[in-house]
Amino acid sequence: MNLRDQLDSPLFTHFIANYTHPTGPDLLGRTEPFFQWQEARRQTGLWPYSRSLESPPTAECAVVSETGVARQGINFGSQDYLALSTHPAVVEAAHRAIRDFGLHSAGSGMFGGNTPPSLQLEEALAEHLEMPYVALFATGWGAGFGAIAGLVRPEDHVVLDALAHASLQQGAMAATQKVSRVPHLSNRAMRRKLQELRAHDTSNGILVVTEGLFSMDSDVPRIEELQRLCHEFGATLLVDVAHDLGALGPRGTGSLGAQGMLGKVDLVVGSFSKTFSSNGGFVATRSAAVRQFVRVMGGPHIFSNAILPVQAAAALESLRVVRSEEGDVLRARALENIVALRDAFAGRGVKCLGEPSNVVPVPLGDPKLARIASKLVFERGVFPNLVEYPAVRLRESRFRMQVMSSHTVAQMKHGAQVVLDAMDEARRMLEACEPGQVSALSGPAGAREQADV
Ligand SMILES: Cc1ncc(COP(=O)(O)O)c(C=O)c1O
Repeated sequence: MNLRDQLDSPLFTHFIANYTHPTGPDLLGRTEPFFQWQEARRQTGLWPYSRSLESPPTAECAVVSETGVARQGINFGSQDYLALSTHPAVVEAAHRAIRDFGLHSAGSGMFGGNTPPSLQLEEALAEHLEMPYVALFATGWGAGFGAIAGLVRPEDHVVLDALAHASLQQGAMAATQKVSRVPHLSNRAMRRKLQELRAHDTSNGILVVTEGLFSMDSDVPRIEELQRLCHEFGATLLVDVAHDLGALGPRGTGSLGAQGMLGKVDLVVGSFSKTFSSNGGFVATRSAAVRQFVRVMGGPHIFSNAILPVQAAAALESLRVVRSEEGDVLRARALENIVALRDAFAGRGVKCLGEPSNVVPVPLGDPKLARIASKLVFERGVFPNLVEYPAVRLRESRFRMQVMSSHTVAQMKHGAQVVLDAMDEARRMLEACEPGQVSALSGPAGAREQADV
């Protein structure tokens, strides 16, 4: 099939959302259409997901696609923001933990799965966040989901920022049917929603959910105002700091520290899977009762094996670096790269979304252009993540370029140039097939479907 025919086929016209609700009695057989669509994309190099890294998540890395195509190039897809996963002290701490405590936590936190590194990690995090009580989870997903599902009952309400992470959305939907979403970052809409809920219901809880840094848009809520609003209406605020903690803010305290809100937010949840070179997550609170309640009533803590001692030790040592002067140096290096990358795009007329953070969202707009550009950059050894509908709105496809302290400014310039050239080339290819059809670069006029994950 030539490109002109491909463009009119599901290869380009379909999205994951076309396949999310198969029908019929055969639960297994009905997965086939999705697989066929995915397979067609895979075989034409248009499925940029599920690649494997053949080296550590370093700035220069070796990548293999699901169909076995190997490439060497610049890694913009890893979340090792301060490059701590290869930091000698973190690696040594991990080795020590394996030597001293073995590999396995061998039980949930309720059943003997806690270890000296996990207990020390709870304490260190409590100090860092100025929240005295911390409960650990095996993943950040489990922490967000578990905090909400643990605290919220069917009579209660959850109000989410419309772009809150899937773990938070799904936790809310598992806990109650009374889930509302307010437009992204709109504290004004939040006030209206809280007013409306409290006008009809003064006897049940309201949990308001947001993030410290939204990783698809690289933007940040006004947290103090949000917390004040919550208190005004007898609601509780939860902030997920998965992407900002450690990477941003004074001494790596994230958006909470940057906004003078350390220790002042009702609930903080987060993950070790970005800056803390590990897997695992946490809920932090000022209340001993809340910590115990979330542990026992939030499913993922009690019904999943605890974070491994090696994971806890790596996160603990990462936290030590995050809080040190060395952490400041690493954050400054990352910022220099972030600014260089954003400037390189701006220099050729492309405005990256949001504000400077380790996530640099590059708007591609048209989903067809996005898929072609994504294939071209992979072939040329530059590896950002492609974000498509329904993770973002239909015509707001973007590259999410993740920047680490171990990158260089030269890599930023080269990465931007390869991406920009690929975008131009993809646009020319599309124009040749479908004159006048390609959306403007940041393209979003027209369809405004809301992301539904
Ligand atoms: C805001 C947010 N919360 C939670 C998670 C899940 O974290 P983890 O990878 O530790 O499960 C992520 C990761 O993608 C995230 O972006």
